Amino acid sequence: MYKIPSNIEKKGFWNVDGLENKNVFLRSCLNVSVDKYGNLLDESRLKESIQSIVELAFKSKSLIVCGHLGRPKSCEQNLSFKKNVLPWITENLNSKGFNVIFAESLSDIPPKDQRNKSNIYLLENIRFFKGEESNDRKEMIKFAESLAETSDIFVNDAFADYRVSASTYEIAKLLPSYIGRSFMKEIEALSKFYDPPRPFLCVLGGAKLSEKLEFLTTLAEISDKVLIGGAMAYTLLKAKGINIGKSLYEEDKVSLARELIKKHSQKMLLPVDHVISLEFSHSSQVTVTKSAEVPNEYFAIDIGPKTLEKYLEEISNAKSILWNGPMGVYEWPQSSTGTSQIGESIVKNKEAFKLAGGGDTIAAINMFSLSGFDHISMGGGAMLVFFSCDKFDTIDVIVNQYS
Ligand code: 3PG
Repeated sequence: MYKIPSNIEKKGFWNVDGLENKNVFLRSCLNVSVDKYGNLLDESRLKESIQSIVELAFKSKSLIVCGHLGRPKSCEQNLSFKKNVLPWITENLNSKGFNVIFAESLSDIPPKDQRNKSNIYLLENIRFFKGEESNDRKEMIKFAESLAETSDIFVNDAFADYRVSASTYEIAKLLPSYIGRSFMKEIEALSKFYDPPRPFLCVLGGAKLSEKLEFLTTLAEISDKVLIGGAMAYTLLKAKGINIGKSLYEEDKVSLARELIKKHSQKMLLPVDHVISLEFSHSSQVTVTKSAEVPNEYFAIDIGPKTLEKYLEEISNAKSILWNGPMGVYEWPQSSTGTSQIGESIVKNKEAFKLAGGGDTIAAINMFSLSGFDHISMGGGAMLVFFSCDKFDTIDVIVNQYS
């Protein structure tokens, strides 16, 4: 688990002297769920991020806000902020007396001495900019330099956006850098898990085992049990030699999954039955399997009733619970039960310390109106990095600055 540096409190932006004379560059978490047309599906991350945006807009000389949306390969229109983030932010900042100036390029932002305090500059999806995530480190640094030139200090409020990039990492080496309030809130909440009351249960789901594989070993080591659902379960079941029919899985991860199961077979619980369907569609007819095997022509789209019963029992006995990832295609009525029941049973366990996190998990929490978590983290991958690694690049680069 990541060990929080002792001097971290000092790195909150509220410790900056003379902030009213500073031009601030803020990295926010704006990575919201959108549909294929770019329509906003869940605004939780915007609601969280707007708080620091407003606070910094009032306190600083000028403010530039940036963030990313999705994983664009080029400037895909559904991932442009114009369709989703910009209207939401504009509406919410106008009501506070600020104008939002949308900047598709850095040249749309006036020089420091020509900015108006009532204007907040919102940069287009930062992943549209060449250099942000470049494999060529020199190109990434060059882009970070051009971002840094616009401002006097850098504030990172995007706990969720933990990957190294120009706007999350390299810029922090170039400007006096600080952590935002929302980011700090995440660190404080997650640190309560340093010595979790036992049994400590991890509930993991979601589509991609590849994104969780490197964390699963540590999570299995530090927790008492890991309950697995969602599409990631099918790569693990495949590795066990179980027929998964046409269910989604990651072929290139099967051999690693096999090693993982060998090492942690006692602690890792996998589905023993499934809700299955002949079509992968929101209105398909479903049936339930009698065992862990999925017939050849079928897709598994949710955990089945026997699995659910077993998982609910584990959840009711747990004293700490970490939940990341849905158990199935929770957006479809016929495959929402696994995720909704798991979520409901977690919040029903009043004695346990309950933490949930990640974009899909938050969307499911909102969809099923679940309340009672001790903390809902905006970060999914970030939360897993925090729990399983001894470094957290975007924090370390700020606290180690000039040391
Ligand atoms: C997330 O949604 O987990 C973060 O915003 C990071 O997004 P990424 O996995 O595309 O880097």
